[in-house]
Amino acid sequence: MTDQNIKDFSNPADLRRKTGNRYRQKYHATVPTGWANDPNGWIVYNGTAHLFYQHNPYKPSWDTMHWGHMISKDMIHWEDCPIALVPTEEYEIHTGCFSGTSIIKDGKHVLMYTGVSKEYQEQCLAFSEDGIHFDKYKGNPVIGHDQLPKQYPPQDFRDPKVFVKDGYYWCLCGSRTEKYGNILLFRSEDMLEWTYIGSLFDPEDESCDHCYRLGGVCECPDYQVIDGQEVLAFSAQNADKEGNLYENSHSVIYMIGTLDFETGIFHYTYKDEVDGGFDFYAPQMTKDDQGRVLMISWKEMWHNYIPTAEDGWAGSFTVPSELSVRDGRLCRRPVRELDAVCRNAVSFDLTVNDGECISAEGIEGNVIRLQAEIELGDSEETGIHLLCGHGHHTEIKYNTLKKQLIMDRTNSGIPINGRDSNTSVRTTDLECRDGILKLDILVDVCAIEAYVNDGIAVMTANAYADPVEDIGIRFFAKGGSVHLKGMKTDVCA
Ligand code: FRU
Repeated sequence: MTDQNIKDFSNPADLRRKTGNRYRQKYHATVPTGWANDPNGWIVYNGTAHLFYQHNPYKPSWDTMHWGHMISKDMIHWEDCPIALVPTEEYEIHTGCFSGTSIIKDGKHVLMYTGVSKEYQEQCLAFSEDGIHFDKYKGNPVIGHDQLPKQYPPQDFRDPKVFVKDGYYWCLCGSRTEKYGNILLFRSEDMLEWTYIGSLFDPEDESCDHCYRLGGVCECPDYQVIDGQEVLAFSAQNADKEGNLYENSHSVIYMIGTLDFETGIFHYTYKDEVDGGFDFYAPQMTKDDQGRVLMISWKEMWHNYIPTAEDGWAGSFTVPSELSVRDGRLCRRPVRELDAVCRNAVSFDLTVNDGECISAEGIEGNVIRLQAEIELGDSEETGIHLLCGHGHHTEIKYNTLKKQLIMDRTNSGIPINGRDSNTSVRTTDLECRDGILKLDILVDVCAIEAYVNDGIAVMTANAYADPVEDIGIRFFAKGGSVHLKGMKTDVCA
């Protein structure tokens, strides 16, 4: 499998320069070379953010997993570090070191990850003094296949999320029975010896508030207390579509509820999608030294064509977002460090009439942030075309009658074919209070993140304008006129 041309991965920054950079994003983290999926070990300490990720350095497609590593002082500029975990041991030699988390213990940076051998997925540790070089624990695995209750097959037992509460270490792992996905809770006093506590859901019991049923693994579970609310997030493999929710082949779900640490049961009162776009999976949350809960996600989707693979790399991440819970809903906003690199503001104040599709002086670009407030007036539909030119555009629009936010990449440029029958249109149900739609849109070469109505809805996607020079922006309205006010800034990263 090894690309014969590359044998030395000790200098990822140099390898990055050797790839084709047509769609290299300027302020989104991207893999230097080869392949990346899930963010791993996401943590901020001593003023540095550490982003590890599932990585195949040899080629731009999934294979035996390593942990790549980048660091950043502001979560906008990223510096490549040496590969943190290379699969070398018996317990991980089959398909490598799968996803997991970081924690600081006794002044050491510890990674907890899944080692995948031929028969088992088991939970392992690696320790570091400097946050760059990691040594695997001699006693790995620390949660072995023999600790699993027998209804959970040891081939699907992965993605440990480790955290501290009430003087104990707790670990959530993704799993499934023959029929249903689940999340398992373990407890430890020292991270070395673990005890099984229970499963978060009880899919067989239809009458209770914890009977969530998923026909795949609950991958990459995560748990945080945000604004006093307990939030559970996980990546739902093969989640079924429900109305306009979960339209991708795999979706990220969050639940608000209460985790019972005695039984492991998660009683939930609300369940929703974290992101309504095309390219968002396996996010991780962490609490930084200022108490902010920050989320970063893989900005791709399984089974879809990734055009940058032709350039020697495939794998990108969202800009980290700050999380809050408002009115019982999870909200996200781009990390405020981004504000410092948004420059050259050009403001606009426009009326767009029924049937018009217009551009505005100085409002264009493909490495920008576009913030706007739209008075919907009597319009039926209004929106923005991004990355316009050569007959291409990517559309974000709001349908006032249906109360739907729609992202459409049918005419974006390079077609993104994949397993989903519909890889072009995504819809999010959204109420707009007082007839106002608020947009905060990040555009970065091929990345689009649309944060809407103060982050109550977010849609994330890649759209590959072809050629990359397609940078126009247009505003349109149908069935009535709208009034738009806002500004565009260049993101100078
Ligand atoms: C999620 C996932 C994880 C696993 C990893 C393997 O995208 O399937 O469950 O640890 O990717 O790369």
